[in-house]
Amino acid sequence: MKNILVTGGTGFIGSHTCISLLESGNNITIVDSFMNSNKSVIEGIKKVLKLSNNLDENKIHLYLGDIRNTSFLQDVFLDSKNNKKPIDGVIHFAGLKAVGESMVNPIIYWDVNVNGSISLLKVMEANNCKTILFSSSATVYGDSKNIPFKESALINPFNTYGHTKATVENILKNIYDSNSSGWKIGCLRYFNPIGAHPSGFIGESPNGKPENIFPYICQVASGFRDKLYVFGNDWPTADGTCYRDYIHVVDLAEVHKITLNYLFNKENENLILNVGKGKPSSVLELIKTFERVNNININYEFSDRRVGDIPISYADTAKMFSLLKWKPSRSLEDMCRDGWAWQKNIS
Ligand code: NAD
Ligand code: UD1
Repeated sequence: MKNILVTGGTGFIGSHTCISLLESGNNITIVDSFMNSNKSVIEGIKKVLKLSNNLDENKIHLYLGDIRNTSFLQDVFLDSKNNKKPIDGVIHFAGLKAVGESMVNPIIYWDVNVNGSISLLKVMEANNCKTILFSSSATVYGDSKNIPFKESALINPFNTYGHTKATVENILKNIYDSNSSGWKIGCLRYFNPIGAHPSGFIGESPNGKPENIFPYICQVASGFRDKLYVFGNDWPTADGTCYRDYIHVVDLAEVHKITLNYLFNKENENLILNVGKGKPSSVLELIKTFERVNNININYEFSDRRVGDIPISYADTAKMFSLLKWKPSRSLEDMCRDGWAWQKNIS
């Protein structure tokens, strides 16, 4: 049993990961500003744990605040120590993630994603807490010359969001290389997390118009949006639409728990891992699967390609499989069914 600080723990991936950590008996301390989530997520987490008889309210601690506020973070670490639950390790989800918005408002993206991470790392070091799992993204790879992407592929992001992720990875590498021993660092480069917890109690709630395809499909299915625009049917792929590597968010949550345990058992480490299924699906395949498993029609129309898209993106998952001895088990059907169960709950 460990005491884990989860920044951004009420967000989409963070909330599912909290469940996975709690189901394994860990204590969690969530730090979130609620800038893209809200307190009801905690109720959702508790409902899921109650279902599986794993709810122990004493194991969940919530602090409302901003990771850029170093003295606030210091208080969180201090409180945890005073409560005899000193933070053993951190999973760092908190950040901004909309690619388009990052090109329009770069300063806030650098501030939250990079300054926020530096603030957290300062406080971790001051408290001799040196285990961190960081949410990176496949977007750091940039172009699609070398698919499937291996972790060793060239880092060449072409949007501000991707640059902030690559920068934090670099900062973490510098810390690891600095000879200040004992740092155990993991950067997980997620591909396309979708779906929701099968209970329908937690899931993704994007603010405003979703940029990513899955929440958009869900909103069309629910009637909240009229139609999905499929960005291009003239790509050099079998059905003319782009291929992506979709992974169920519950599988993604599980891999956080497993990787964190892997790090705890190391002396020091700087681990970079792709997290995807390693099996790409086209946009049309995703739509058709959603329609079939949920018995619902998705109104869609082909439109122009989106600037910055690449035709095919998927992970080389060999490193993840061999190091963690773990594979995502949930199918595209599961992702579509569970994501829709959540959407129906909030519609
Ligand atoms: P999310 O927006 O649902 O969750 C992020 C959480 O961080 C939210 O609860 C938000 O309120 C909180 N937050 C934001 N800024 C904060 C701040 N300054 N201080 C404290 N809390 C703050 O996003 P998500 O999809 O769960 O993504 C989690 C992480 O994974 C992000 O860092 C994101 O960049 C990364 N990532 C996500 C995807 C994806 O497709 N969802 C893909 C690759 C990487
Ligand atoms: C996007 C981001 C990437 C980020 C990833 C996961 C861009 C250029 N890239 O990638 O940095 O890491 O999300 O958060 O934004 N699509 C449609 N119609 C839509 C929305 C999307 O056809 O309304 C298509 C896209 O063209 C793409 C596929 O669906 O082919 C998946 O899109 P999306 O969910 O945005 O993910 P990525 O493109 O992989």
